[in-house]
Amino acid sequence: MRTRGEVRSAALGGPAAGEGAGVSSFPRRRMRRLRRTDRLREMVRETTLAPSHLAAPLFVKEGLARPVPLDVLPGQHQHTLGSLVDECSRLAELGVPAVMFFGIPARKDQAGSAAWDPEGIVQQALRVVRAEVGDRLALIADLCLCEYTAHGHCGVLRGEAVDNDATLEAYRRIAVSYAQAGADLVAPSGMMDGQVAAIREALDEGGFHDVAILAYAAKYASAFFEPFRHAAESAPRFGDRRGYQMDPGNTDEALREVQLDIAEGADIVMVKPALPYLDVLARVKATFGVPTAAYHVSGEYAMLRAAAARGWLDEERAMLEVLLAIRRAGADLVFTYFAGEAAARLRRG
Ligand code: PBG
Ligand code: ZN
Repeated sequence: MRTRGEVRSAALGGPAAGEGAGVSSFPRRRMRRLRRTDRLREMVRETTLAPSHLAAPLFVKEGLARPVPLDVLPGQHQHTLGSLVDECSRLAELGVPAVMFFGIPARKDQAGSAAWDPEGIVQQALRVVRAEVGDRLALIADLCLCEYTAHGHCGVLRGEAVDNDATLEAYRRIAVSYAQAGADLVAPSGMMDGQVAAIREALDEGGFHDVAILAYAAKYASAFFEPFRHAAESAPRFGDRRGYQMDPGNTDEALREVQLDIAEGADIVMVKPALPYLDVLARVKATFGVPTAAYHVSGEYAMLRAAAARGWLDEERAMLEVLLAIRRAGADLVFTYFAGEAAARLRRG
């Protein structure tokens, strides 16, 4: 294997350039030759973006009479079970392979017990959507407590702090409950230590060997989650999440988080948010080479929408460029509120 320095010098016509690279310089080499037409550009494009690379996060709320449009996420809704089914069918038609559900329960309590209720909103959503779409969509259930606890934290509290190991017990129950309702994957997003191992063990004990785990492995304590917290009604009532989510200054730590999650049995690892953390994403993919997702989060979506609404950006172009950039950095799969629109646009060609 060549080191980065050698590859670089080869590319620049240095000592290693003779290795068949055919590198010469101007005027024999004109980089613009292959930029002349759509077909030529297509022939040499290194990264592609297709509907199959996208997954849609969706909100479903218990007890709603009709879907509620979200001001903080223009184009997105808190769905009823009925509108959720419609939206999922539409996404399947567009060739989007996966959806991820976030549930908003009618009642919250200290423990977040609605999360593992067999008749809970996500459990119901999994069943009704499955009945409609069959295997045309992979169904992913986000697994956390912040939508279900009265205090809005991602775990069980002891005093004012989240008790890691007590939280794992709740996560195990939720995982089994989602598996029973038909989830293909569960996606623990609470950043508790040992969450992947605990969930894997609970799923296996319950006979759900084939239910996969999408681990939010490197999730940062980010300002870009703000719109989501309105949409999911999951903002912490006091304090913040810096005691469990990652510090934005760290990348080596992200690699350790990912390494641990893989060792604990994660099938897919995820970096979140996406654009401000493309460096992290690139390192994760290059280091481990496992199926890797990135989550283009609510605040990233809202920024583009807001600028486009003012006429400051061409929304379609900006959307496609951002999603392609996330793919180029190393994402196999991109979770994005643009999934439906981007898929529709890509299919039009
Ligand atoms: C909570 C959770 C959050 C998101 C996904 N799961 C927000 C948070 O940590 O408060 C954010 C997604 C987005 O911003 O689009 N477990
Ligand atoms: Zn949470």
